[in-house]
Amino acid sequence: MSTHVYAERRARLAAQLGPQGIALIPTAPERPRNRDSDYLYRHDSYFYYLTGFTEANAWLVLTGDGKSRLFCQPKDMEREIWDGYRLGPDAAPGALGVDEAFAVGELEAHLPKLLENRDAVWYPFAIHEGLESRVGGWLSKVRARVRYGAICPEQQRDLCGLLDEMRLVKDAHEQDVMRRASAISARAHVRAMQTSARMLRAGQEVREYHLDAELLHEFRAGGSQYPAYGSIVAAGANACVLHYRADAAPVKAGDLVLIDAGCELDGYASDITRTFPANGKFSGPQRAVYDLVLASQDAAVAATRAGARFIDPHEATVKVLSQGLLDLGLLDRNQVGGVDDVIEKRAYFPFYMHRTGHWLGMDVHDCGSYVEPSEVGNGSERRDPLSDEVIVNRPSRILRPGMVLTIEPGLYIRPAAGVPEQFHHIGIRIEDDAIVTATGCELITRGVPVKAEEIEALMRG
Ligand code: GLY
Ligand code: MN
Ligand code: MN
Repeated sequence: MSTHVYAERRARLAAQLGPQGIALIPTAPERPRNRDSDYLYRHDSYFYYLTGFTEANAWLVLTGDGKSRLFCQPKDMEREIWDGYRLGPDAAPGALGVDEAFAVGELEAHLPKLLENRDAVWYPFAIHEGLESRVGGWLSKVRARVRYGAICPEQQRDLCGLLDEMRLVKDAHEQDVMRRASAISARAHVRAMQTSARMLRAGQEVREYHLDAELLHEFRAGGSQYPAYGSIVAAGANACVLHYRADAAPVKAGDLVLIDAGCELDGYASDITRTFPANGKFSGPQRAVYDLVLASQDAAVAATRAGARFIDPHEATVKVLSQGLLDLGLLDRNQVGGVDDVIEKRAYFPFYMHRTGHWLGMDVHDCGSYVEPSEVGNGSERRDPLSDEVIVNRPSRILRPGMVLTIEPGLYIRPAAGVPEQFHHIGIRIEDDAIVTATGCELITRGVPVKAEEIEALMRG
Protein backbone atom coordinates (compact mmCIF):
# COMPACT_ATOMS: atom_id res chain seq x y z
CA MET A 1 0.00 0.00 0.00
CA SER A 2 1.43 3.28 -0.99
CA THR A 3 2.16 5.65 1.86
CA HIS A 4 0.78 8.54 -0.14
CA VAL A 5 -2.75 8.59 1.27
CA TYR A 6 -1.45 8.69 4.85
CA ALA A 7 1.07 11.44 4.08
CA GLU A 8 -1.68 13.48 2.44
CA ARG A 9 -3.93 13.07 5.52
CA ARG A 10 -1.10 14.06 7.86
CA ALA A 11 -0.44 17.15 5.77
CA ARG A 12 -4.12 18.11 5.83
CA LEU A 13 -4.26 17.67 9.59
CA ALA A 14 -0.99 19.51 10.21
CA ALA A 15 -2.32 22.50 8.29
CA GLN A 16 -5.13 22.78 10.85
CA LEU A 17 -2.93 22.68 13.97
CA GLY A 18 -1.57 26.18 13.57
CA PRO A 19 2.14 26.79 12.86
CA GLN A 20 3.05 26.38 16.54
CA GLY A 21 0.66 23.50 17.21
CA ILE A 22 1.60 19.90 17.96
CA ALA A 23 -0.57 16.78 17.91
CA LEU A 24 -0.04 13.55 19.85
CA ILE A 25 -1.80 10.42 18.57
CA PRO A 26 -1.17 7.14 20.40
CA THR A 27 -2.37 3.83 19.04
CA ALA A 28 -4.55 1.52 21.14
CA PRO A 29 -3.12 -0.41 24.10
CA GLU A 30 -2.96 -4.18 24.22
CA ARG A 31 -5.61 -5.49 26.59
CA PRO A 32 -5.32 -8.61 28.74
CA ARG A 33 -8.19 -11.09 28.45
CA ASN A 34 -7.06 -13.42 31.18
CA ARG A 35 -3.68 -14.35 32.64
CA ASP A 36 -1.26 -14.70 29.69
CA SER A 37 -3.81 -14.12 26.91
CA ASP A 38 -4.54 -10.74 25.39
CA TYR A 39 -7.62 -9.78 23.40
CA LEU A 40 -6.94 -9.90 19.71
CA TYR A 41 -5.10 -6.65 19.07
CA ARG A 42 -6.87 -3.85 17.21
CA HIS A 43 -5.03 -0.60 16.45
CA ASP A 44 -6.56 2.81 17.21
CA SER A 45 -8.60 4.12 14.28
CA TYR A 46 -7.25 7.71 14.39
CA PHE A 47 -3.67 6.47 14.53
CA TYR A 48 -4.24 4.06 11.66
CA TYR A 49 -5.94 6.74 9.58
CA LEU A 50 -2.76 8.83 9.76
CA THR A 51 -0.13 6.09 9.48
CA GLY A 52 -1.53 2.82 8.08
CA PHE A 53 0.54 1.22 10.85
CA THR A 54 -0.97 -1.67 12.83
CA GLU A 55 1.68 -2.44 15.47
CA ALA A 56 0.97 -1.82 19.15
CA ASN A 57 3.03 0.55 21.33
CA ALA A 58 3.31 3.33 18.83
CA TRP A 59 2.70 7.10 18.76
CA LEU A 60 2.53 9.63 16.01
CA VAL A 61 3.66 13.17 16.80
CA LEU A 62 2.74 15.72 14.20
CA THR A 63 3.81 19.36 14.25
CA GLY A 64 2.21 22.34 12.59
CA ASP A 65 5.11 22.63 10.15
CA GLY A 66 3.98 19.29 8.67
CA LYS A 67 6.76 17.20 10.19
CA SER A 68 5.80 13.71 11.39
CA ARG A 69 7.63 11.64 13.98
CA LEU A 70 6.79 8.05 14.78
CA PHE A 71 7.65 6.35 18.06
CA CYS A 72 7.47 2.57 17.68
CA GLN A 73 8.67 -0.71 19.11
CA PRO A 74 12.42 -1.18 18.60
CA LYS A 75 13.73 -4.23 16.81
CA ASP A 76 14.23 -6.99 19.40
CA MET A 77 15.12 -10.46 18.20
CA GLU A 78 13.94 -12.21 21.33
CA ARG A 79 10.54 -10.45 21.39
CA GLU A 80 10.14 -10.98 17.65
CA ILE A 81 10.68 -14.74 18.11
CA TRP A 82 7.74 -14.77 20.54
CA ASP A 83 5.43 -12.07 19.23
CA GLY A 84 6.32 -11.56 15.59
CA TYR A 85 7.98 -9.11 13.27
CA ARG A 86 8.49 -5.49 14.25
CA LEU A 87 9.09 -2.76 11.72
CA GLY A 88 11.45 -0.81 13.98
CA PRO A 89 12.44 2.87 13.81
CA ASP A 90 15.18 2.46 11.19
CA ALA A 91 12.79 1.05 8.58
CA ALA A 92 9.78 3.17 9.53
CA PRO A 93 10.50 6.32 7.46
CA GLY A 94 10.93 4.24 4.30
CA ALA A 95 7.94 2.00 4.97
CA LEU A 96 5.48 4.59 6.30
CA GLY A 97 6.70 7.88 4.84
CA VAL A 98 7.13 9.56 8.24
CA ASP A 99 9.96 12.06 8.54
CA GLU A 100 11.64 10.55 11.59
CA ALA A 101 11.18 7.52 13.82
CA PHE A 102 12.41 6.65 17.28
CA ALA A 103 12.07 3.79 19.73
CA VAL A 104 8.95 4.22 21.84
CA GLY A 105 11.12 4.14 24.97
CA GLU A 106 12.47 7.56 23.93
CA LEU A 107 9.02 9.17 24.12
CA GLU A 108 9.49 10.47 27.68
CA ALA A 109 12.77 12.13 26.76
CA HIS A 110 11.52 13.68 23.50
CA LEU A 111 8.07 14.91 24.44
CA PRO A 112 8.94 17.75 26.84
CA LYS A 113 11.38 19.09 24.23
CA LEU A 114 8.87 18.75 21.43
CA LEU A 115 6.22 20.58 23.48
CA GLU A 116 8.52 23.48 24.28
CA ASN A 117 7.79 26.79 22.52
CA ARG A 118 4.46 25.62 21.13
CA ASP A 119 1.16 27.40 21.66
CA ALA A 120 -1.25 24.44 21.58
CA VAL A 121 -1.04 20.73 22.19
CA TRP A 122 -3.73 18.65 20.49
CA TYR A 123 -4.64 15.08 21.38
CA PRO A 124 -7.81 12.97 21.37
CA PHE A 125 -9.75 13.77 24.55
CA ALA A 126 -11.36 10.99 26.58
CA ILE A 127 -10.16 8.17 24.37
CA HIS A 128 -6.90 6.95 25.89
CA GLU A 129 -7.00 6.30 29.60
CA GLY A 130 -4.26 8.22 31.38
CA LEU A 131 -3.26 10.32 28.37
CA GLU A 132 -4.43 13.58 29.97
CA SER A 133 -2.19 13.05 32.98
CA ARG A 134 0.77 12.04 30.82
CA VAL A 135 0.40 15.24 28.82
CA GLY A 136 0.16 17.09 32.15
CA GLY A 137 3.44 15.50 33.26
CA TRP A 138 5.19 16.56 30.05
CA LEU A 139 3.82 20.08 30.31
CA SER A 140 5.04 20.40 33.87
CA LYS A 141 8.53 19.51 32.64
CA VAL A 142 8.28 22.30 30.08
CA ARG A 143 7.05 24.68 32.77
CA ALA A 144 10.06 23.85 34.93
CA ARG A 145 12.17 25.38 32.18
CA VAL A 146 10.33 28.69 31.75
CA ARG A 147 12.98 30.40 33.92
CA TYR A 148 15.42 29.55 31.14
CA GLY A 149 13.20 31.15 28.53
CA ALA A 150 11.11 28.14 27.50
CA ILE A 151 7.50 28.80 26.48
CA CYS A 152 4.88 26.36 27.69
CA PRO A 153 1.81 25.67 25.51
CA GLU A 154 -1.19 27.56 26.87
CA GLN A 155 -3.84 25.51 25.12
CA GLN A 156 -4.80 21.85 25.23
CA ARG A 157 -7.20 21.07 22.42
CA ASP A 158 -9.30 18.07 21.45
CA LEU A 159 -7.98 16.50 18.26
CA CYS A 160 -11.13 14.42 17.78
CA GLY A 161 -13.08 17.27 16.21
CA LEU A 162 -10.56 17.80 13.38
CA LEU A 163 -10.04 14.11 12.72
CA ASP A 164 -13.75 13.28 12.92
CA GLU A 165 -14.51 15.80 10.20
CA MET A 166 -11.76 14.38 8.01
CA ARG A 167 -12.87 10.78 8.57
CA LEU A 168 -16.52 11.54 7.91
CA VAL A 169 -15.96 11.94 4.16
CA LYS A 170 -14.35 8.79 2.80
CA ASP A 171 -11.71 9.22 0.11
CA ALA A 172 -11.41 6.93 -2.93
CA HIS A 173 -9.04 4.56 -1.13
CA GLU A 174 -11.44 4.17 1.78
CA GLN A 175 -14.46 3.68 -0.46
CA ASP A 176 -12.62 0.97 -2.33
CA VAL A 177 -11.79 -0.93 0.89
CA MET A 178 -15.37 -0.54 2.12
CA ARG A 179 -16.77 -1.92 -1.13
CA ARG A 180 -14.54 -4.95 -0.78
CA ALA A 181 -15.45 -5.46 2.89
CA SER A 182 -19.13 -5.25 1.97
CA ALA A 183 -18.75 -7.82 -0.81
CA ILE A 184 -17.19 -10.32 1.60
CA SER A 185 -19.92 -9.72 4.18
CA ALA A 186 -22.63 -10.11 1.54
CA ARG A 187 -21.19 -13.50 0.55
CA ALA A 188 -21.19 -14.50 4.21
CA HIS A 189 -24.90 -13.71 4.53
CA VAL A 190 -25.68 -15.69 1.38
CA ARG A 191 -23.74 -18.64 2.77
CA ALA A 192 -25.54 -18.53 6.13
CA MET A 193 -28.97 -18.37 4.44
CA GLN A 194 -28.21 -21.27 2.16
CA THR A 195 -26.74 -23.36 4.97
CA SER A 196 -29.82 -22.86 7.12
CA ALA A 197 -32.17 -24.08 4.39
CA ARG A 198 -29.91 -26.94 3.31
CA MET A 199 -29.43 -28.30 6.84
CA LEU A 200 -33.13 -28.11 7.62
CA ARG A 201 -33.97 -29.84 4.33
CA ALA A 202 -31.54 -32.60 5.27
CA GLY A 203 -33.29 -33.01 8.62
CA GLN A 204 -30.27 -31.77 10.57
CA GLU A 205 -30.42 -29.84 13.80
CA VAL A 206 -29.50 -26.21 13.22
CA ARG A 207 -28.36 -23.87 15.97
CA GLU A 208 -27.45 -20.22 15.83
CA TYR A 209 -23.76 -21.07 16.13
CA HIS A 210 -23.88 -23.19 12.97
CA LEU A 211 -24.82 -20.09 11.01
CA ASP A 212 -22.27 -17.96 12.88
CA ALA A 213 -19.62 -20.49 11.81
CA GLU A 214 -20.59 -19.95 8.16
CA LEU A 215 -20.22 -16.18 8.55
CA LEU A 216 -16.77 -16.54 10.10
CA HIS A 217 -15.70 -18.94 7.38
CA GLU A 218 -16.59 -16.53 4.63
CA PHE A 219 -15.07 -13.53 6.43
CA ARG A 220 -11.70 -15.23 6.81
CA ALA A 221 -11.83 -16.90 3.41
CA GLY A 222 -12.29 -13.43 1.94
CA GLY A 223 -9.21 -12.07 3.71
CA SER A 224 -10.99 -10.14 6.44
CA GLN A 225 -9.08 -9.91 9.71
CA TYR A 226 -12.10 -10.29 12.04
CA PRO A 227 -15.78 -9.41 12.45
CA ALA A 228 -16.31 -5.66 12.72
CA TYR A 229 -18.53 -6.22 15.80
CA GLY A 230 -20.10 -9.12 17.67
CA SER A 231 -22.26 -10.94 15.13
CA ILE A 232 -25.96 -11.15 15.91
CA VAL A 233 -27.51 -14.44 14.84
CA ALA A 234 -30.97 -14.44 16.37
CA ALA A 235 -33.46 -17.22 15.75
CA GLY A 236 -37.19 -16.74 16.31
CA ALA A 237 -38.08 -14.52 19.26
CA ASN A 238 -34.40 -13.68 19.87
CA ALA A 239 -34.64 -11.28 16.94
CA CYS A 240 -36.59 -8.93 19.20
CA VAL A 241 -33.53 -8.57 21.47
CA LEU A 242 -31.65 -5.76 19.77
CA HIS A 243 -28.17 -6.60 21.10
CA TYR A 244 -28.55 -10.38 21.04
CA ARG A 245 -25.37 -12.28 20.12
CA ALA A 246 -24.94 -15.52 18.20
CA ASP A 247 -25.67 -18.18 20.79
CA ALA A 248 -26.96 -21.75 20.85
CA ALA A 249 -30.72 -21.43 20.32
CA PRO A 250 -32.28 -23.87 17.84
CA VAL A 251 -33.09 -22.54 14.37
CA LYS A 252 -36.46 -24.04 13.50
CA ALA A 253 -38.43 -24.33 10.27
CA GLY A 254 -41.18 -21.72 10.43
CA ASP A 255 -39.05 -19.22 12.37
CA LEU A 256 -37.26 -16.21 11.03
CA VAL A 257 -33.55 -15.71 11.56
CA LEU A 258 -32.10 -12.21 11.92
CA ILE A 259 -28.39 -11.96 11.16
CA ASP A 260 -26.59 -8.66 11.74
CA ALA A 261 -22.96 -9.27 10.87
CA GLY A 262 -20.17 -7.65 8.90
CA CYS A 263 -16.47 -8.15 8.55
CA GLU A 264 -13.64 -5.72 9.10
CA LEU A 265 -11.24 -5.56 6.18
CA ASP A 266 -7.96 -3.65 6.42
CA GLY A 267 -9.36 -1.48 9.18
CA TYR A 268 -12.80 -0.77 7.66
CA ALA A 269 -16.14 -2.12 8.84
CA SER A 270 -19.13 -3.39 6.96
CA ASP A 271 -22.51 -3.77 8.64
CA ILE A 272 -25.27 -5.88 7.08
CA THR A 273 -28.53 -7.22 8.46
CA ARG A 274 -30.75 -9.69 6.71
CA THR A 275 -33.80 -11.46 8.08
CA PHE A 276 -34.84 -14.67 6.39
CA PRO A 277 -37.08 -17.68 6.97
CA ALA A 278 -35.00 -20.51 8.46
CA ASN A 279 -36.30 -23.01 5.91
CA GLY A 280 -36.45 -20.59 2.98
CA LYS A 281 -40.18 -19.83 2.90
CA PHE A 282 -41.85 -16.81 4.54
CA SER A 283 -45.21 -17.35 6.24
CA GLY A 284 -48.01 -14.88 5.42
CA PRO A 285 -47.61 -12.69 8.54
CA GLN A 286 -43.81 -12.80 8.28
CA ARG A 287 -43.98 -11.74 4.66
CA ALA A 288 -46.37 -8.89 5.42
CA VAL A 289 -44.04 -7.44 8.06
CA TYR A 290 -40.98 -8.08 5.90
CA ASP A 291 -42.41 -6.25 2.92
CA LEU A 292 -43.32 -3.32 5.14
CA VAL A 293 -39.78 -3.04 6.52
CA LEU A 294 -38.40 -3.30 2.99
CA ALA A 295 -40.76 -0.60 1.73
CA SER A 296 -39.58 1.64 4.55
CA GLN A 297 -35.97 0.94 3.58
CA ASP A 298 -36.75 1.80 -0.06
CA ALA A 299 -38.13 5.13 1.13
CA ALA A 300 -35.01 5.75 3.20
CA VAL A 301 -32.72 4.91 0.28
CA ALA A 302 -34.65 7.33 -1.93
CA ALA A 303 -34.12 10.05 0.71
CA THR A 304 -30.34 9.53 0.86
CA ARG A 305 -28.42 11.89 -1.39
CA ALA A 306 -26.02 14.82 -1.20
CA GLY A 307 -27.80 17.90 0.07
CA ALA A 308 -30.37 15.94 2.07
CA ARG A 309 -30.07 15.79 5.86
CA PHE A 310 -28.90 12.78 7.87
CA ILE A 311 -32.33 12.65 9.53
CA ASP A 312 -34.24 12.49 6.22
CA PRO A 313 -33.93 8.70 5.66
CA HIS A 314 -35.08 8.15 9.25
CA GLU A 315 -38.11 10.34 8.78
CA ALA A 316 -38.95 8.61 5.51
CA THR A 317 -38.70 5.24 7.26
CA VAL A 318 -40.88 6.28 10.18
CA LYS A 319 -43.58 7.54 7.83
CA VAL A 320 -43.81 4.25 5.93
CA LEU A 321 -43.61 2.12 9.07
CA SER A 322 -46.25 4.17 10.86
CA GLN A 323 -48.71 3.82 7.99
CA GLY A 324 -47.95 0.09 7.78
CA LEU A 325 -48.45 -0.47 11.50
CA LEU A 326 -51.95 0.99 11.11
CA ASP A 327 -52.66 -1.04 7.97
CA LEU A 328 -51.55 -4.31 9.60
CA GLY A 329 -53.62 -3.63 12.70
CA LEU A 330 -50.58 -3.45 14.96
CA LEU A 331 -51.72 0.02 15.94
CA ASP A 332 -55.38 0.79 16.43
CA ARG A 333 -56.62 3.85 14.51
CA ASN A 334 -59.35 4.32 17.10
CA GLN A 335 -56.73 4.71 19.79
CA VAL A 336 -53.83 6.44 18.06
CA GLY A 337 -55.48 8.22 15.14
CA GLY A 338 -53.94 8.60 11.68
CA VAL A 339 -50.39 8.38 10.46
CA ASP A 340 -49.52 11.95 11.45
CA ASP A 341 -50.67 11.25 15.00
CA VAL A 342 -48.62 8.05 15.12
CA ILE A 343 -45.53 10.06 14.14
CA GLU A 344 -46.33 13.03 16.36
CA LYS A 345 -46.93 10.86 19.44
CA ARG A 346 -44.16 8.41 18.51
CA ALA A 347 -46.72 5.62 18.83
CA TYR A 348 -44.53 3.45 16.56
CA PHE A 349 -41.82 3.39 19.23
CA PRO A 350 -42.73 0.05 20.91
CA PHE A 351 -42.11 -1.59 17.51
CA TYR A 352 -39.30 0.61 16.19
CA MET A 353 -37.04 1.95 18.90
CA HIS A 354 -33.79 2.72 17.10
CA ARG A 355 -32.54 5.15 14.49
CA THR A 356 -32.45 4.24 10.82
CA GLY A 357 -28.69 4.59 10.49
CA HIS A 358 -25.30 5.72 11.64
CA TRP A 359 -22.02 6.71 10.08
CA LEU A 360 -19.90 3.76 9.01
CA GLY A 361 -16.16 3.67 8.48
CA MET A 362 -13.21 2.36 10.43
CA ASP A 363 -15.50 2.10 13.45
CA VAL A 364 -18.85 0.41 12.92
CA HIS A 365 -20.54 3.35 14.61
CA ASP A 366 -18.11 5.73 13.01
CA CYS A 367 -17.11 9.17 14.21
CA GLY A 368 -18.51 12.41 12.84
CA SER A 369 -20.98 14.97 14.07
CA TYR A 370 -24.65 14.32 13.33
CA VAL A 371 -25.31 18.06 13.62
CA GLU A 372 -24.54 20.43 10.75
CA PRO A 373 -21.49 22.33 12.05
CA SER A 374 -22.49 25.68 10.58
CA GLU A 375 -25.90 25.46 12.27
CA VAL A 376 -25.00 24.27 15.77
CA GLY A 377 -26.44 27.43 17.27
CA ASN A 378 -29.85 26.98 15.64
CA GLY A 379 -31.27 24.52 18.15
CA SER A 380 -34.90 24.47 19.20
CA GLU A 381 -36.42 22.85 22.23
CA ARG A 382 -39.29 20.40 22.23
CA ARG A 383 -40.83 18.05 24.74
CA ASP A 384 -40.63 14.34 23.94
CA PRO A 385 -44.19 12.91 23.88
CA LEU A 386 -43.12 9.61 25.49
CA SER A 387 -40.53 10.57 28.10
CA ASP A 388 -41.69 14.17 28.61
CA GLU A 389 -38.02 15.19 28.59
CA VAL A 390 -37.00 18.46 27.01
CA ILE A 391 -34.89 17.70 23.96
CA VAL A 392 -32.83 20.17 21.96
CA ASN A 393 -33.20 19.55 18.24
CA ARG A 394 -30.22 20.81 16.30
CA PRO A 395 -30.18 20.93 12.51
CA SER A 396 -29.21 17.50 11.22
CA ARG A 397 -26.06 17.01 9.20
CA ILE A 398 -26.22 17.82 5.51
CA LEU A 399 -25.06 14.80 3.52
CA ARG A 400 -22.11 15.18 1.18
CA PRO A 401 -20.67 12.82 -1.45
CA GLY A 402 -18.34 10.30 0.15
CA MET A 403 -20.10 10.09 3.49
CA VAL A 404 -20.99 6.49 4.31
CA LEU A 405 -23.97 5.50 6.42
CA THR A 406 -26.13 2.49 7.16
CA ILE A 407 -29.82 2.30 6.31
CA GLU A 408 -31.37 -0.14 8.74
CA PRO A 409 -35.07 0.01 9.50
CA GLY A 410 -36.71 -2.75 11.51
CA LEU A 411 -39.81 -3.86 13.38
CA TYR A 412 -39.74 -5.87 16.60
CA ILE A 413 -43.09 -7.25 17.69
CA ARG A 414 -43.35 -8.52 21.25
CA PRO A 415 -46.58 -9.96 22.61
CA ALA A 416 -48.63 -7.17 24.17
CA ALA A 417 -52.25 -6.18 24.64
CA GLY A 418 -53.83 -5.41 21.29
CA VAL A 419 -51.04 -6.96 19.21
CA PRO A 420 -52.49 -9.68 16.92
CA GLU A 421 -51.05 -13.05 17.87
CA GLN A 422 -50.00 -13.95 14.33
CA PHE A 423 -47.30 -11.25 14.57
CA HIS A 424 -45.95 -12.17 18.00
CA HIS A 425 -42.15 -12.57 18.22
CA ILE A 426 -41.51 -11.43 14.67
CA GLY A 427 -38.34 -9.34 14.60
CA ILE A 428 -37.13 -8.01 11.26
CA ARG A 429 -34.31 -5.64 10.35
CA ILE A 430 -32.87 -4.97 6.92
CA GLU A 431 -29.55 -3.13 6.86
CA ASP A 432 -27.45 -1.94 3.95
CA ASP A 433 -24.43 0.33 3.70
CA ALA A 434 -24.62 3.38 1.46
CA ILE A 435 -22.04 5.75 0.01
CA VAL A 436 -23.62 9.16 -0.54
CA THR A 437 -23.31 10.43 -4.11
CA ALA A 438 -24.29 13.70 -5.75
CA THR A 439 -27.58 12.31 -7.02
CA GLY A 440 -28.41 9.50 -4.57
CA CYS A 441 -26.45 6.76 -2.92
CA GLU A 442 -24.55 3.64 -3.87
CA LEU A 443 -25.66 0.58 -1.88
CA ILE A 444 -22.47 -1.43 -1.49
CA THR A 445 -23.99 -4.42 0.31
CA ARG A 446 -26.46 -5.66 -2.25
CA GLY A 447 -24.33 -8.71 -3.07
CA VAL A 448 -26.87 -10.37 -0.79
CA PRO A 449 -30.44 -10.04 -2.04
CA VAL A 450 -33.06 -8.19 -0.10
CA LYS A 451 -36.40 -8.83 -1.82
CA ALA A 452 -38.40 -11.63 -0.17
CA GLU A 453 -38.81 -13.64 -3.36
CA GLU A 454 -35.11 -13.31 -4.18
CA ILE A 455 -34.17 -14.59 -0.73
CA GLU A 456 -36.55 -17.51 -1.17
CA ALA A 457 -35.06 -18.31 -4.58
CA LEU A 458 -31.54 -18.13 -3.19
CA MET A 459 -32.44 -20.50 -0.37
CA ARG A 460 -33.96 -23.03 -2.76
CA GLY A 461 -30.70 -23.18 -4.67
N1 GLY B 1 -24.37 -3.85 14.02
C1 GLY B 1 -24.49 -2.66 14.73
C2 GLY B 1 -25.50 -1.80 14.11
O1 GLY B 1 -26.21 -2.22 13.24
O2 GLY B 1 -25.59 -0.66 14.43
MN1 MN C 1 -25.68 -0.66 11.84
MN1 MN D 1 -25.75 -3.92 12.02
